[in-house]
Amino acid sequence: MIDYAPSNLLHADLRIDGDRLMRRIEDLAAIGPIDGGGSCRLALTDEDRAGRDLVVAWMSDLGLSVTVDAIGNVVGIRPGRTDGPPTMTGSHIDTVRTGGRYDGNLGVLAGLEVVETLERNGIETNHPVAVAFFTDEEGARFPPDMLGSLVYVGGMPLEEALDIVGIDGAVVGEELERIGYHGPAPCPGVAPRAFVELHIEQGPVLEAEGTTIGAVTGVQGISWTEWTITGQSNHAGTTPMELRRDAGHVAATIAVQVRDLANRLNRQSVAEGRLDRQVGTVGQLNLHPDLVNVVAGSATMTVDLRNTDESLLSGVEADLARFVAEMAEAEGVTIDKRTLARFEPVAFDDRMVETVATVAERLGHSVRRMPSGAGHDAQMLARICPTGMVFVPSRHGISHNPAEHTDTEDLVAGANVLLHTLLVLDAHPLESGVPSDGEED
Ligand code: GLV
Ligand code: MN
Ligand code: MN
Repeated sequence: MIDYAPSNLLHADLRIDGDRLMRRIEDLAAIGPIDGGGSCRLALTDEDRAGRDLVVAWMSDLGLSVTVDAIGNVVGIRPGRTDGPPTMTGSHIDTVRTGGRYDGNLGVLAGLEVVETLERNGIETNHPVAVAFFTDEEGARFPPDMLGSLVYVGGMPLEEALDIVGIDGAVVGEELERIGYHGPAPCPGVAPRAFVELHIEQGPVLEAEGTTIGAVTGVQGISWTEWTITGQSNHAGTTPMELRRDAGHVAATIAVQVRDLANRLNRQSVAEGRLDRQVGTVGQLNLHPDLVNVVAGSATMTVDLRNTDESLLSGVEADLARFVAEMAEAEGVTIDKRTLARFEPVAFDDRMVETVATVAERLGHSVRRMPSGAGHDAQMLARICPTGMVFVPSRHGISHNPAEHTDTEDLVAGANVLLHTLLVLDAHPLESGVPSDGEED
């Protein structure tokens, strides 16, 4: 195993420049600004293009060689002493419509800050260092989430991804062409030696216990479904209750059931002393014709279910499907299902988790090992290389909201953990996909 004696942190006094990091975060947040200080850069929109152009310009200024692949993932590479696969970091710069300034952006811009720190201190690495941003991590415009990294690792054929139709009717391939990011680099991409992503926690745990760094152990499973309910629109005043085929009523009942299923499962988990927690969200609900005096003839809704335990997640999916079928029967409506995303829980390699945790401790930070509630590009990269993540606290656990905030000192702490984790990984041979015994040179 790696010898973690402090003297073995190469360049132990090296630190990133927090002011430079914050300037880049602010400059990127100013693209697609929204009330409250956040940004709206839905994937492959004009705002996303402007954000991409800015980050690519920064990459070029830093001397990185920049490639764009056929799904629009962008990778900037700083050469090492030897050629070969890079040690990679990165995240995403697309946002949800109500995005904060840190979700995704932090990981990409901290990656650039690491490169600038190496550059200004004349530090050569053994292996190339890559900073990537992946297309459509949010999946908010084009489901599924993590689309670009999924294609990068070969988890979805390129052609299938290019044909995906978004919530506004736009098509991924056409939008990539339109914004000039349908690049020539092939998909799947090169497997890195290792991948480490810095991200805000987006939940309340670190702040609540006053811990600075999360060493992420894995990502919970994600299930996104769209349900389309078709009933009969009719007059709100004249249609007796027993004659209604009310799509709005069915949608509302399903939404309540999502909450009930999650609560029931969690009561059981608590009673049995288990740590798994179910979450369930109806984030989109559209009624038609959406008028005060018309019984809704149709409804479209999304359900987002997540759990760290695959069998529990599958169980909740099955319970909900049964309930939906019963509701269809009872109300005389038809209900169609479309799966938007389905990813099983991912466990990161223990030795990567320990590398992150030990580096953080060596830098003097408090550390908690914890799973991620949110989806991340790292969960896709974990399919092809040893992968880890670094979390920093989110104020009040708020994210996907312009009020998203992390204190500057925590952002800087996270970026320094990223810097030294990358240096440790660079200095150690990675065999069988994990850090192994090895001498630093
Ligand atoms: C992506 O941010 C997700 O977890 O929904
Ligand atoms: Mn994110
Ligand atoms: Mn997000």
